[in-house]
Amino acid sequence: METRETPARTAVPHDPLALVDEVSGWLTTDAAEVDAKITGEDRDRLIDGVRKLNAESLVGDQAAFYAQQLLLARIYQMHTVLPETTTAEGSVFVSEVTRLLEEATAQVEDDWIEPGLLEQAPEEPRAYLSWLKQLARGHRVFKHPYYHEFIRNQADADDLRNYVMQESVVDGRFDDLLAMMQVGTSGRAKMEIAANFWDEMGNGDPDQVHTLLFNKIYEVFEIPPEELERSLTANALLSGNLAVMLSRYRKFYPEAVGFLGMTEWMVPDRFVQVVHAWERLGLPDIGIVYHRLHITVDSQHAAGWFHNVVLPAAESAHMRRAIARGTLWRLNSSARYLDERMPVAAA
Ligand SMILES: [Fe+2]
Ligand SMILES: [Fe+2]
Repeated sequence: METRETPARTAVPHDPLALVDEVSGWLTTDAAEVDAKITGEDRDRLIDGVRKLNAESLVGDQAAFYAQQLLLARIYQMHTVLPETTTAEGSVFVSEVTRLLEEATAQVEDDWIEPGLLEQAPEEPRAYLSWLKQLARGHRVFKHPYYHEFIRNQADADDLRNYVMQESVVDGRFDDLLAMMQVGTSGRAKMEIAANFWDEMGNGDPDQVHTLLFNKIYEVFEIPPEELERSLTANALLSGNLAVMLSRYRKFYPEAVGFLGMTEWMVPDRFVQVVHAWERLGLPDIGIVYHRLHITVDSQHAAGWFHNVVLPAAESAHMRRAIARGTLWRLNSSARYLDERMPVAAA
């Protein structure tokens, strides 16, 4: 049996990050080679390591949670960024690791949903949509003090720099999320996603592409890519991972509808606070174009999304339940993320 020579290969990795690094190390190896080399006890050890990571994360081990989300984020990079080298895309081993990480991540989000809540959803589409919005308005994430107090009134330039790094996992690739989630749609939903995507493309003007405008803020703060991954917290990684997970699988289409729709719906109120902070600090105007634009554009996106994507889908009981599930994943995970940012912020 051919094996890869690495000093750590026989040791049981107690350090979650050692496991992440070992598995990540294989992501730049050709898939067939990965599957030929990771076999037998070696394979069992790594798969057991991932299961252990998931189990520890489930009971609240923060180091395990971070490692779990970092590994999933690196795997998703492989699926969402054009590679410069060989990759393990298509490897059976990597697929198994991915599925284990995804199942564990989904389980945690489902556990956060209040028992019986999904069953309360009205059946009539318009009543259902009002109910979804009410869920959001009544949620503690709505007008969270992180935005309404900290960002608005207290944050300094360094805090804003950190803030944009954490936000990059969703805002920095919103166009690709839309591109992934629209596969297989038709009719009004596809037209709405297409219109939204075209807005992301600056309606054809290369200088107005939203991800490009978002990246301008990096120029103001001089954020190198290496610093970016290092700085992301477990909950920020989770936000990005949930967005990719729901957008890339067809089975999660309705969850993506809820997750991305709620993301857009919450943006305008949040960005009003960010723009206020930016102006309070007198930072260069070029960096805030993205946020200013989205105060208007995302209220239109959310309205169009609710009308043309959610309402037609809400005729189906399966879709209603899954859209609400994705909505709650977004509300709950965003609340935990913002809670976590508060104490750091207040320090
Ligand atoms: Fe956008
Ligand atoms: Fe948008």
